[in-house]
Amino acid sequence: MRRRIKGIIMAYTDRGHGPPVVLLHAFPLNRQMWAPQVRVLAREFRVIAPDLRGHGRTTATDGVYTMDLLADDVRALLDTLGIQEFVLGGLSMGGYVALAFYRQWPERVRGLLLCDTRADADTPERRRSREELSQRAIDEGIEAVASAMLPRLLAPDTLSRRPALVERVRRLILQTPVRGVVGALAGMAQRPDSTDLLPRIACPTLVVTGEDDAVSPPEVARTMCQLIPRCQTVIIEGAGHLPNLERPRAFNRVVRQFLRQTTGLAALAG
Ligand code: MLT
Repeated sequence: MRRRIKGIIMAYTDRGHGPPVVLLHAFPLNRQMWAPQVRVLAREFRVIAPDLRGHGRTTATDGVYTMDLLADDVRALLDTLGIQEFVLGGLSMGGYVALAFYRQWPERVRGLLLCDTRADADTPERRRSREELSQRAIDEGIEAVASAMLPRLLAPDTLSRRPALVERVRRLILQTPVRGVVGALAGMAQRPDSTDLLPRIACPTLVVTGEDDAVSPPEVARTMCQLIPRCQTVIIEGAGHLPNLERPRAFNRVVRQFLRQTTGLAALAG
């Protein structure tokens, strides 16, 4: 589906009925990465998964995509859909956007699902590597970005033994316009440290991370969760940075349970 918001066309999935759940994808992917979750969760929830600005089928504008800008795009989409309160989930960059959203509109968030993400800002070294990747995207195109990103996104075991999944993720990356890559990399590099926000998160929070995640490793997840008052951490074995794709069954089980508890569905079912 598509809506015009704030002068751009935003593409999104809106499937199922029940308490709303919003899922924000990682960089440089798009909403299709949530396909194994949408399939299962839409049986009990209304699942909304947008393509963030510059990704998938959503317009790629010029300029820096700050996490606040991306969060405001999501806010505008949800406003046009008439959705006030929801559980908000994000993976990696999606998690940065979820934290930016929570900072501005905490009253709209019933629960937070933070996957393979972190609250701290980039180190100078990380900023430099983003600038390099951005320049590579401009000089060599999106294929070079896919080659650089795949080893960071997937666990070594996934990379060596699951060529079909590797190819699927590669194809998702190839759908991202270079302009989107450049805008998102600059936005992530500029994102503020959100550590101060963590003790103020009042809603139930689930932190999920792949055991072999090299971008946001389990110790980062545990430290983040310790600072959030009502938080629980789950580490998904045998997964890297994309446990929702690498271990969808284990991922869906913990997420579904969290969503049922957070939205009251578990109590209704007795
Ligand atoms: C992502 O998966 O969204 C990115 O790898 C996050 C990052 O580069 O910090």
